[in-house]
Amino acid sequence: MEEKILVLDFGGQYNQLIARRVREQHVFAEIKPYNKITPEQIKNEGYGGIIFTGGPNSVYDERSPHYDPSVLELGIPVLGICYGDQLMAYMTGGEICSAKEGSEYGKTVLHTLDDKLFKGVPEESVCWMSHTDYVKVPPKGFLITAYTDKCPCAAMCDEERNLYGVQFHPEVTHTEFGKQMLRNFLFDICKMSGTWLMEDFAKRSIEKYKAKLGDKKVLLALSGGVDSSVAAVLLNSAIGKNLTCVFVDHGLLRKDEGDFVEKTFREKFGMNLIRVNAAERFLTKLKGVTEPEKKRKIIGEEFIRVFEDEAKKLGKINVLVQGTIYPDVIESGLGDSAVIKSHHNVGGLPDVIAFDEIAEPLRELFKDEVREVGTKLGIPYELVWRQPFPGPGLAVRVIGEITEEKLKILREADAIFREEVANAGLERMTNQYFAVLTDTRSVGVMGDARTYGNTIALRAVTTDDFMTAEWTRLPYDLLEKASSRITNEVKGVSRVVYDITSKPPATVEWE
Ligand code: XMP
Repeated sequence: MEEKILVLDFGGQYNQLIARRVREQHVFAEIKPYNKITPEQIKNEGYGGIIFTGGPNSVYDERSPHYDPSVLELGIPVLGICYGDQLMAYMTGGEICSAKEGSEYGKTVLHTLDDKLFKGVPEESVCWMSHTDYVKVPPKGFLITAYTDKCPCAAMCDEERNLYGVQFHPEVTHTEFGKQMLRNFLFDICKMSGTWLMEDFAKRSIEKYKAKLGDKKVLLALSGGVDSSVAAVLLNSAIGKNLTCVFVDHGLLRKDEGDFVEKTFREKFGMNLIRVNAAERFLTKLKGVTEPEKKRKIIGEEFIRVFEDEAKKLGKINVLVQGTIYPDVIESGLGDSAVIKSHHNVGGLPDVIAFDEIAEPLRELFKDEVREVGTKLGIPYELVWRQPFPGPGLAVRVIGEITEEKLKILREADAIFREEVANAGLERMTNQYFAVLTDTRSVGVMGDARTYGNTIALRAVTTDDFMTAEWTRLPYDLLEKASSRITNEVKGVSRVVYDITSKPPATVEWE
């Protein structure tokens, strides 16, 4: 059985970060909500270690997430972080209390004692704290192994039972020796070997799908985004011509994007690719529509219809491939949040295409791991590092009704902006950057004449997860160059503005 670590989620904001930090050490980690897995399942699944995540609650609060204490008797090492540390103490008879002087938040000096978890960590270092409650009296059998000025028990352990708890967050980069602590937990305490490598993943997947799908007819919806591209190349390496990729060009792509995708997959990878030029179909459906959610709905539905028509021509399909990645399958331990925008992608396909089974080759991977696999498979840099591009494409970047004329203006302006960001070598300074064609016209002057043209907004954001984002502080020189080129080179644009709103309150896309 493949070695792996369980990240038991109690609603902490860093649950994915913890799993990624573990995987960076080449140890496979899975996140499961605390209420979706029992100690018995944990044992049967063969996890080599468990990490209890943080969480926003207080252990004495009745509604706070608790867990069956028998998990601590399985003989599997456990590391509790923040709330997970308090919970471990609570489960074993320790005492938790609320800090009198309020919360301890931010970088904090940590004093550690000699202990397995702190091997190679200096006696004094910096850690990241974010808590109000703390363990006041550790449970019987536990020793205090670290403290800070405000927190008398910043870490505790029961070496005999391999139970470790830390009040601070080793997964956050501000904890100077956090990586070392995690390595100590994984390799010295859980005895992991660290053999989870992306090369092996790619090789194993190719072998697996060759054996499993070799003689089947497999269909994949290729968008040209990172996930579907990597899934396509992986399966192409496994089953070659038995894979058919359908690329629906809805006419809402960026400048030259459709041709680039077609060229890459058909010529470089020799794939069995069908490009469906469906711009007219989409534009007809979108005529007169101005409401963002309605646009999304129409595009999502039409995408399915076009794909369905194409699939019908192919005859019987055995397997439908989905580019699902790990963050799509992680369930939250504490319920779902409100839907702000409905992200229609290829989610509806399984309902309308007749097939026997679904294959999700990237289901276990985080985005950065998908990129690594893509690079190993020889996918061009522009595709592997492509910034996110929404399924409805430029339709949510042309404010109001969409017309071919408006799309043309936006495509040109957007291409110039992207080109200037690339020329300045700043593509990696920002996580997503694009132009928006607003529905505002404004007065300008060109030569001696009055103009009354369109307003283009430029948007660039810096973010880890796109749930929150800061507007990127792009250099003025770059903005000036982009603005001047756009107003000079794109007919019909007389004003360029830069969006300086973060998310929240604004979203990344304007619609
Ligand atoms: P928002 O605008 O919700 O964007 O702050 C967050 C991220 O999601 C992308 N986005 C979409 N992606 N279909 C998609 O596939 C959509 O309808 C959609 N709307 C927004 C957006 O580009 C950003 O990366």
